Amino acid sequence: MDALEAIRRRRSVRRYTGDPIPREDLEKIVDAGRLAASGNNRQPWDFIVVTDRAMIDRLKVAAGWMDKAGAIIAVVLDPSSRWWLEDGSAAVENMLIASTALGYGSCWLEGYTLPREEEFKALLGVPEGKRLLTLVPLGVPAEWPTVEKKPLEAVIHWEKY
Ligand SMILES: Cc1cc2nc3c(=O)[nH]c(=O)nc-3n(C[C@H](O)[C@H](O)[C@H](O)COP(=O)(O)O)c2cc1C
Repeated sequence: MDALEAIRRRRSVRRYTGDPIPREDLEKIVDAGRLAASGNNRQPWDFIVVTDRAMIDRLKVAAGWMDKAGAIIAVVLDPSSRWWLEDGSAAVENMLIASTALGYGSCWLEGYTLPREEEFKALLGVPEGKRLLTLVPLGVPAEWPTVEKKPLEAVIHWEKY
């Protein structure tokens, strides 16, 4: 699947079969994250790949449907870096696209993660002073949702707004 096709196909997938994800695929997905653009090339990120069922069970308080995820990637940023939010977001989107290209479903889980940030940081051993931006559950998809997107003509402007 080429990049444009993966971008078009990517959707937030919240149902998984429960099948495991091979380590080399998880490495490819994190590799896509760490290759993202970042302000001043600071790369202020770390990625914690969780495959342990007991830990997934603890993280799923954020969203019960993560139960059958093959892995959850926790995205950790250094907030002393000026563009940490933008940098982290670029890394997350790269990982969503890469997981789509490899045939996995994934979801950006920031809204459900932030209220439990301190709890999850403690569980995952994230150092004081770092931020947990989001969890990214990944899995073999049990469904592939269709979500309406604004049409190109509604958002594209040529030369002026
Ligand atoms: C910053 C951000 C936070 C999000 N947080 C959550 C979340 O907490 N839980 C969830 O189920 N989806 C979350 N999503 C996924 C969005 O709901 C999803 O991207 C949106 O509905 C569009 O659907 P699509 O990803 O299939 O195109 C988040 C997405 C973004 C970009």
